[in-house]
Amino acid sequence: MQAFFDKFTKKYSNTGGWLDRGFRYIVNYTQKGDILVDYDKILERLPGLLLPWYGQGHRQLPWRADREPYHIWLSEVMLQQTRVEAVRDYYTRFLAALPDIPALAGCDDDTLHKLWEGLGYYSRARNLKKAAQVIVERWGGEFPETYEDVLSLPGIGAYTAGAICSIAYDLPTPAVDGNVLRVTSRLLDDPAPIDLPETKKRVGEALGKVYPKQAGDFSQALIELGATVCGPNRAPDCGRCPCREICLGYQNGTARQLPVKAPKRQRREEDRTVLILSCGGRYALEKRPQRGLLAGLWQFPNTQGHLDTAQALAYAQALGLRPREVRREIFRKHIFTHIQWNMKGVYLEVGETAGSFCWFTAEQIRRQAALPTAFRQFWEEERDV
Ligand code: ADE
Repeated sequence: MQAFFDKFTKKYSNTGGWLDRGFRYIVNYTQKGDILVDYDKILERLPGLLLPWYGQGHRQLPWRADREPYHIWLSEVMLQQTRVEAVRDYYTRFLAALPDIPALAGCDDDTLHKLWEGLGYYSRARNLKKAAQVIVERWGGEFPETYEDVLSLPGIGAYTAGAICSIAYDLPTPAVDGNVLRVTSRLLDDPAPIDLPETKKRVGEALGKVYPKQAGDFSQALIELGATVCGPNRAPDCGRCPCREICLGYQNGTARQLPVKAPKRQRREEDRTVLILSCGGRYALEKRPQRGLLAGLWQFPNTQGHLDTAQALAYAQALGLRPREVRREIFRKHIFTHIQWNMKGVYLEVGETAGSFCWFTAEQIRRQAALPTAFRQFWEEERDV
C-alpha cells in the first residue's frame, strides 16, 4: 500500500490534484494507517453543515439586504479583487447615484469613473455600463434570468454569473472565487494550485453536484467561511469551523500550508515623472487615452523615466509652460497587476494656464475628475501641504 501511495502521490502532485485524475476513491495515507476517502461524500455533507452555521449568524452586508439581481451584480463586480470593508461605502453611493439598470446604461463616463474612483480595475466599471446597455437593448432593462444569458454579458465571467444566478435566483450555479478555492483546497487536502483555471473549473463542477435548494445561501456561506473562519494569509480558525469533522486539511494537519499557489510572474517596473502643475490654485489635468491602462481616466501630465529638476523644468517648457518654481519633489510607488510604477512627483508652479491641459480648481477635482490612486496620492500630498 505504501508503494502505491508513493507512486500515486508523485503522479498526483505533478498533475494538480485529485479532481485531475478523475478518481472517485483515492487512498489517503494517514499516520494511523491507510483509509479510503470519498471526496464526493465530503462535498455532499457541506450544505448540511454550512447552511445552519450561516443561518445562525453572518456579517450584515448592504448587498445581503435583498436579492435584486442588479444589486447582487454590482456587489459581486465591486468585490472582485477588493476587500468587503472597502466596498461597503462605494456600493451604497453607487446605488444612490444610479439606482437601476437604465440609469447605469445612460450615465456619462465621468460620473461613472467618479463613482469608481479609488476602487481600481476601472475596466470593471466600464463593463458594467456596457452590460447595462446590452440589458436595456435586449431585455428592456430587466436583468436576464438564465445562467447562459448572464454569462454572455460584458465583464461577467463564470464566477460572477454563478454568484448572481445562485444568490438572486437560487440556481445551482457555483461561485468559485479565491475564498471558495481556499476552503475546498483545505477541506479536501487538495494540492492543486488554486490559481490555475483547470482547478477552478473542476472545483466548480464538483460543487455544482452538491448544490442545495437554498443555492444563494450556500454560495454566501462558502464565501463567508472563506472570508472569516478559513481566511487568507493566516492560520485557519479550525476551532470555530462548522466543517471541521469532514475537513481533511484539519485531520491531516495540512490546512495551514494550503492552498498551494502557482509562482507569480514578476512585475515589470517602470520609472515615471509626474508633474503636478499649479497656477494660482488651478491644476493641470489631462485625460488618458481611451484604451489601455486606466483608460479614459484623468491624470497629471507624466512621462517615462526619472527627470532631474533641470530636466523637469525643460520638459514643462516644452509643453508650452513658463515654470516659476519647483515647490517640492517626492517619490511614490504604485502597483498594478503586471506593472509597478516608480513615480517621482515634481510640484511646479507655472506662470499661466497654458498648454493642452484642463486647468481644474481643487473643488472641480473633488467633484468631477476621477483621479486614479496612482495619481491621487500626489494630489493628497498637495492637499496636506
Ligand atoms: N466576496 C465576494 N462575494 C461576496 C459576497 N457576496 N459577500 C461577501 N464577500 C464576498
